[in-house]
Amino acid sequence: MAYDLLVRNARLRDGRLVDLAVSAGRIVAIEPRIAAEAAETIDAGGRLLSPPLVEPHCHLDAALTEGLAGHNRTGTLLEGIQRWAQTKPLLTVETVKERAKRTIEWYASQGALVIRSHVDVCDPNFVGLRALLEVREEMRDLVDLQLVAFPQEGILSYPGGGELLEEALRMGCDVVGAIPHYEMTREMGVESLRIAFELAERYDRPLDAHCDETDDDQSRFVEVMAAETIRRGLQGRVVASHTTAMGSYNNAYAFKLFGWLKRAELSIVANPPDNSILQGRFDTYPKRRGLTRVKELLEYGINVAFGHDSVMDPWYPLGTGNMLHAAWLGLHLVQLSGYEEIPLVWDLVTTNAARALGILDRYGIDVGKPADFVVFDAANERDALRMLAPALWCVKRGRIVARASAPRVEIRRADEFVPIRYERPGEGLVDR
Ligand code: FE2
Repeated sequence: MAYDLLVRNARLRDGRLVDLAVSAGRIVAIEPRIAAEAAETIDAGGRLLSPPLVEPHCHLDAALTEGLAGHNRTGTLLEGIQRWAQTKPLLTVETVKERAKRTIEWYASQGALVIRSHVDVCDPNFVGLRALLEVREEMRDLVDLQLVAFPQEGILSYPGGGELLEEALRMGCDVVGAIPHYEMTREMGVESLRIAFELAERYDRPLDAHCDETDDDQSRFVEVMAAETIRRGLQGRVVASHTTAMGSYNNAYAFKLFGWLKRAELSIVANPPDNSILQGRFDTYPKRRGLTRVKELLEYGINVAFGHDSVMDPWYPLGTGNMLHAAWLGLHLVQLSGYEEIPLVWDLVTTNAARALGILDRYGIDVGKPADFVVFDAANERDALRMLAPALWCVKRGRIVARASAPRVEIRRADEFVPIRYERPGEGLVDR
């Protein structure tokens, strides 16, 4: 039997060395050795074959707009918000599309084949949303793109915010957003969540709110999210993004909260690149790290994922859409550096993120699943994180959609340049 695609000598996360066969866009066999021909064959050479990286939180309507309305000179959240307000009138559907597509190419070429993007819908003209609805279709061969209707300036604090949010859902947004901590008062924040949950129920969409993205220990909207989720029976369909205030809560409150988060089956998405530079700006010393309690939430059995968030926008001037950068940075900031913890970080940008996005039924390396996977230039996830390994082959629905060559670096020993690998003697991919 001839397959469409055969990957030989792939190392799975559980350590098995296997061949993997693909037909009609699905994984049809995973065996130690598959004796068959295929239209196309990849020799993975013992490298890690992983489900694709998942970006659970970004802003493609703002991506690559850094500097468009002047640079963020202070690097702060407040100047970022001000620069974004100046940037919005400059956007057109065509330019947003162009930048979003380029950003998606960056993500996909580095192994992220699923993306959830928030889209600012506090705009009566829906420039960003109209652009991204087209991008979602036009980039379907590269990535599965989910769009969150995101009321950046508030559901109640922006004139007509609630109506714009609902219209965005009618236009085709996949997910309902909110930003309770940004509303004018605590009461308006609670009411904004009630409106968002109401819409989620009425339109049968999941919900993903920017929540408690502040160092203010009095910002406690995630408890409202948990309560609304339980009250309406929406367990497993709700994500709280950022929740950085949790890093400042007192322990008695935080651990009471964990119980409710778990009962609500809420997923938490932490975004190390943005929050490590945007939070803690009012602190002198000691200076907070700006992230939620990732390690403790995981220990409590709550689903947590890492997002990249911004890529070159008014809030965050850096980034190439490489999810391994976000994972690497997050690993350090939340101290997931124990021997068993380092491979766990891989889950935060793969399966945990897929669970947050509600796609686990069609995600993973199993016979019968869609043939979406990535071969990284490393022997295992520990080395892939340590070396920020490039994605050598990215496969979407059985088609190679991105590929790269392993970088060749040479060092002079005596009179000869010899290749160097960043692996310890006797470890890693030594047979090349
Ligand atoms: Fe965000």
